[in-house]
Amino acid sequence: MNDIVVDNLSFAYPETDRLILNNVHMKVNAGDFVCLLGQSGCGKSTFLRLLAGLEKPTSGSISVGGQQVRGTSLTRSVVFQDYGLFPWMSSGENIVLALRQRYPEKSKRECRDMALAAIQSVGLSADVYDKFPKELSGGMKQRCAIARSFSMNPPILLMDEPFGALDAVTRARLQDMVLDLWSHEEQKKTVFFVTHDVEEALLLATRIYVFGQSPSQIIFEKELPAETKPDRKGMYESEQIIELRNELVQYINQDVLSHVEE
Ligand SMILES: Nc1ncnc2c1ncn2[C@@H]1O[C@H](COP(=O)(O)OP(=O)(O)OP(=O)(O)O)[C@@H](O)[C@H]1O
Ligand SMILES: [Mg+2]
Repeated sequence: MNDIVVDNLSFAYPETDRLILNNVHMKVNAGDFVCLLGQSGCGKSTFLRLLAGLEKPTSGSISVGGQQVRGTSLTRSVVFQDYGLFPWMSSGENIVLALRQRYPEKSKRECRDMALAAIQSVGLSADVYDKFPKELSGGMKQRCAIARSFSMNPPILLMDEPFGALDAVTRARLQDMVLDLWSHEEQKKTVFFVTHDVEEALLLATRIYVFGQSPSQIIFEKELPAETKPDRKGMYESEQIIELRNELVQYINQDVLSHVEE
């Protein structure tokens, strides 16, 4: 099983001594949908980079399925906050490049077909395949980055505010899509999803963590078992969810205020 254990993790970027994360503990079961909340700058993206193996812990460890994370892996795909598309390639080529690494046995033609299908599955038209990132809007680039990650079908998906630049309708559509992808595959994926939107976290998560200000620790943790997860309609009817929403907002606001007052 690909359970993820974060043990006493601390991290400072090598060029500075300032701790960004301090004594972070987390135990996530394979198949969990984990939402990470916390104020801007508290270290959420840094934490995802550590999970991806793009940075190394200063102390402590991260393991997946009992194996310590020591570098990047095609089994952990990231949707970066800044989209992470190569500017010198068309959107389609960006996706094909990733697919060729993930599925070396597939032909270029097959990868092209998969890339085109992925682009269309996030609500973009086929002509986006040949467009370069600079020709696309922020939301379109974001959808291309999502299409690339989804098409790689990794067991662990790391998503950094993936729906931040989208309008409400597209956002709802992609939320449904990510939930579908997460729940309907034979082997359930584990998703780590950074968001500033408490409602989005409540809709998606089976586990919510709130990070405090730097050096950041987890200041609040809640499990939302799949069977008690609200659907879009039930969100505002369940007393339990409304209570949890208020609790989350309170934790985040308190944390911000305590740092403003210092
Ligand atoms: N490459 C880097 N080198 C040095 N410091 C960095 C680097 N990247 C980020 N930081 C610092 O680490 C801290 C955490 O940044 P991070 O991007 O992880 O925050 P975040 O929680 O994702 O914020 P946001 O919600 O705004 O995306 C910030 O103080 C930031 O300035
Ligand atoms: Mg970030």
